[in-house]
Amino acid sequence: MKSIIKNIANSNTHTTILNKHYPKSSITNVTPNIIKHIGLNLHNNKNSPIYTIRQLIEDTFDASSYRKFDKYNNFGPIVTVKKNFDDLGFPKDHVGRSKTDTYYINDELLLRTHTSAHEVECFKNLSKSKDHNNKSISSLVNGHGYLISADVYRRDEIDKTHYPVFHQMEGTKTWNRFTHNEVIESEVNKMDQLMKKNFPSLTVEDVDYIKDDATHQNSKQDYMTDLETELVVKHMKKSLELVVATLLKHRYDHDASKDKNFKNPDIKMRWIEAYFPWTRPSFELEIYYNNEWLEVLGCGVTKNSVFTNADMASESQVGWAFGIGIDRLAMLLYNIKDIRLLWSQDNRFTSQFEGKEGTIFEFKPFSTYGITSRDISFFLTKELNPNDVMEIVRDEAQSWCYSCTLVDEFFNKKMNKKSQTYRISYQNLERNITTAEINEINDKVVDRLIKEFEIQPRN
Ligand code: PHE
Repeated sequence: MKSIIKNIANSNTHTTILNKHYPKSSITNVTPNIIKHIGLNLHNNKNSPIYTIRQLIEDTFDASSYRKFDKYNNFGPIVTVKKNFDDLGFPKDHVGRSKTDTYYINDELLLRTHTSAHEVECFKNLSKSKDHNNKSISSLVNGHGYLISADVYRRDEIDKTHYPVFHQMEGTKTWNRFTHNEVIESEVNKMDQLMKKNFPSLTVEDVDYIKDDATHQNSKQDYMTDLETELVVKHMKKSLELVVATLLKHRYDHDASKDKNFKNPDIKMRWIEAYFPWTRPSFELEIYYNNEWLEVLGCGVTKNSVFTNADMASESQVGWAFGIGIDRLAMLLYNIKDIRLLWSQDNRFTSQFEGKEGTIFEFKPFSTYGITSRDISFFLTKELNPNDVMEIVRDEAQSWCYSCTLVDEFFNKKMNKKSQTYRISYQNLERNITTAEINEINDKVVDRLIKEFEIQPRN
């Protein structure tokens, strides 16, 4: 029995993920190193900072809302192309769909690139929930939402803040169009009061949606009135400002409990315009932290097409949606400098988080080992995307890969060929690596580039 499974696992025709076998196709690009992360679910692991951030965000949303949000924390990462892209209105030629950016299992299935992939099914569940479309319901509970947390996968560059697997939380809140304006307004007021009480020194630079050009992608949707759009946007922005400010407060309260002289830094945030195919208008929230502006989340007013894809009556709902990356927020709040640490089993990392759920504190860095770099230079004989090089490096070096950057590129007229140089840096977080070990990995990377992309190495 064992040997059969092993054969299938190594098969050229199938990929095995959590004991299930998926047929491969010409687009398949998911690698064993990526598959190893599936099922680890840091967002459900009490000893991970990802868990605490998720919980604190969930609690903040529930506290400012008349009705608790539905929670989904166990969706598996393999979804259809339809769910991840089509249902949300991604254009056919959107870069997100490309094989260089996304891990495909085969033509129909991929590893979700964002938690928005589950919006439509969760809206379907909402519309089935007994009191959602019920006109006679108390106006105070008209307004229902859900929160989804999950691991998401993207082929990306490699450095201290990028990892091919990370965690997102998605959330929406929706009202049907009966008594919604009063309900929305009353929740906005409730949040305003909380904000004034808890964050008197918070400053927010706002940006409005486009009002004078109805065809602009960041104008309101036709079916919604100005008042509805205004209220939904206000409710969305307030909810999200409150969530981010509350997370920062958790960290500052902890610091104040350790140091009597600690003074809360002023919190600064700003809204900027954005574009997402399934929301309109759309925005991003940035916070000013350690002297720089950092993007923390994307959001927008849910498009009517998302509601209708979820079998809700057209133009019967209004609402907002957001998506936030949990890993980078955790890094920032705990001051964890290397994203790979989030996955570390090293006792010097894990012992700092055991039994500490619900608190945000300063992570104590431990001594790390040297970083060694190797440059590889070659001529191209066919198309090669930097993400393809990154993927091979990641596959061969696994957690020892610190970064991989395209450092030089030029065209050699005489040879009529493009040349590229990549700098690959290796580091093991737990021990020193020997030169022989690095050379062995680096040679494997070059061999695979020759075999898979027919590069011609230059010395
Ligand atoms: N899914 C988006 C992302 O990954 C975030 C988002 C979610 C934006 C919901 C708008 C609405 O960047």
